[in-house]
Amino acid sequence: MQIQTQVQLKPFNTLSLDATASHYVRIHSVEDLEAALQFAQDENLNVLILSGGSNMLLPEQIHALVIHMDIQGIEYLSEDEMTQTVRVGAGQVWHDFVLWSTAHQLFGLQNLALIPGLVGASPVQNIGAYGVEVGEFIDSVQVYDRENKVHCSIAAVDCDFSYRHSIFKDRPERFVITHVTFKLLRQAELKLNYGDLKNAVGDELTAENLQQQVIHIRQTKLPDPKQYPNVGSFFKNPVISQQVFDQIVVQFPNLPHYPQPYNEVKLAAGWLIDQAGWKGKTLGMVGMFHKQALVLVNYEHATLHDVRATYKAVQHDVFEKFNIVLHPEPVLFDENGLIRSHQD
Ligand code: EPU
Repeated sequence: MQIQTQVQLKPFNTLSLDATASHYVRIHSVEDLEAALQFAQDENLNVLILSGGSNMLLPEQIHALVIHMDIQGIEYLSEDEMTQTVRVGAGQVWHDFVLWSTAHQLFGLQNLALIPGLVGASPVQNIGAYGVEVGEFIDSVQVYDRENKVHCSIAAVDCDFSYRHSIFKDRPERFVITHVTFKLLRQAELKLNYGDLKNAVGDELTAENLQQQVIHIRQTKLPDPKQYPNVGSFFKNPVISQQVFDQIVVQFPNLPHYPQPYNEVKLAAGWLIDQAGWKGKTLGMVGMFHKQALVLVNYEHATLHDVRATYKAVQHDVFEKFNIVLHPEPVLFDENGLIRSHQD
């Protein structure tokens, strides 16, 4: 384990923001992690856990120890007639793990192909796409609990998974995820109820084809971060009460909407942004993608300041038109490596 100083994090965040970390270390094991945390404590530094960098907004200077998670490995644990349990290192690339699962005839994750990022970040915001959320296939999450200084395993039922949410989102300073244990199906059960996925899959009802179609849909709609730096959906789809929805839909009858439990309705943030005139529009070097208005793109060498100016303008215009507040998905950090509110 080697602690480096003044490290440029631009290659490690998919929005390609210029961000220099005062201290940086790449860790490959739980022992490395403990040593790095000890170093931070001795040096009185805050800790910023860096995974795939696909859901974070970084300032230009960060005075903290950035711990880059690189614990690899996929291990078979138990199996029964229906399921196979596997434990995966937090640093494994998510998409590679999905491809691995399909190639090994393990099912459930195919709808989540091509999501950027690493396995360790997947439970944090309970990544989801095309009718599947990762929490459905998680058995438990292995963490280092910084509060109690112990390694422990948190069962999926205790992770409080819901739409783009988990306990790890609530307690980011407490848990460092080292491994994720998945319970995957040994028989394919294809989930085809999202949008036009069923048509895309057609008659070839195999997990391989489903995975291929998801990859194809994503490639046609969503920008490749290597070409157009981005963090995927920039805002969460807003969930509002049925009562509020009933009022808005009178004025906007074409509003896409998805009924939710507890008398709530989820709206499509992409549609709201599009209707507010932001699809393909830019402010300086930052704009909303021309094929999917929900994705914010850094078109040149934008700083966090530029990114914030654009997303605040989008929030403002959507609020003016629909009276709906959009909440950003990515986590915003301050100069001390701590999470800060998007509101300030
Ligand atoms: N729409 C527009 N204009 C746009 C974009 C979308 O009118 O510019 C409309 C679409 O026509 C559709 C609706 O909005 O009626 C929803 O769009 P889409 O099916 O593309 O999905 P989304 O709600 O925009 C969500 C997730 C994505 C996920 C897809 C597929 C969130 C915040 N986003 O997007 O997740 O891939 O569904 O399941 O829930 C991510 O989180 O990074 C991400 C890409």
